Amino acid sequence: MGSKRFTVAITGASGSAFGVAVLRRLAANPDVTEVSLLVSPTGRRCLADECGVKVEALVARSPKIRHHDERNLGAAVSSGSYRQDGMVLVPCSAGALGRIAAGVSESLVSRAADVCLKERAPLVLCLRETPLNRIHLENMLRVHDAGAVVMPIMPGFYTQPANFEDLFDTFATRVLDQLGLAEADARRWQG
Ligand SMILES: Cc1cc2nc3c(=O)[nH]c(=O)nc-3n(C[C@H](O)[C@H](O)[C@H](O)COP(=O)(O)O)c2cc1C
Repeated sequence: MGSKRFTVAITGASGSAFGVAVLRRLAANPDVTEVSLLVSPTGRRCLADECGVKVEALVARSPKIRHHDERNLGAAVSSGSYRQDGMVLVPCSAGALGRIAAGVSESLVSRAADVCLKERAPLVLCLRETPLNRIHLENMLRVHDAGAVVMPIMPGFYTQPANFEDLFDTFATRVLDQLGLAEADARRWQG
């Protein structure tokens, strides 16, 4: 058993199924002991609308998952003294990207992301918006320059996914790659 800790934030953008897939993979990984789950109010709505799932049901899937209320700025992930191995926003709304790019830490999601940047912990932003305006593009460059990985939800098709679950799962393994968790069963291009 490992001892890695990560944070998953599901914000208010389409594609919450990608967040569910990342959460499932992280919780199932033997190197991971704890996953802090943050869900913005609109993220909660997207989860219900698109996946038919409530946050409470997600938490019940694994004892490793700890949910923190978005308004609780006193949660552990709000402090740099809480050591963790990285955070992913999946999906990441354009609004969340903008708040992180501007250093506005008014919610637990944006504060936890800000902490990752200042502590030099991996921060992966799976942006979901299209088309992109100049503000989105500038914000992506800004967070990239501050140390984040900008990984828009652009699933690959070279693994020939048989269904949506395959698509979500393959994207999730690429996110875990970015968090330093290379999974043995990940589908990879062999040349
Ligand atoms: C059903 C629904 C779908 C949305 N989809 C997107 C989206 O795909 N991308 C995006 O950037 N914003 C989307 N939005 C808008 C954001 O949810 C909104 O800007 C919100 O303030 C983002 O805040 P959050 O990041 O704290 O969730 C959507 C809103 C709703 C209600």
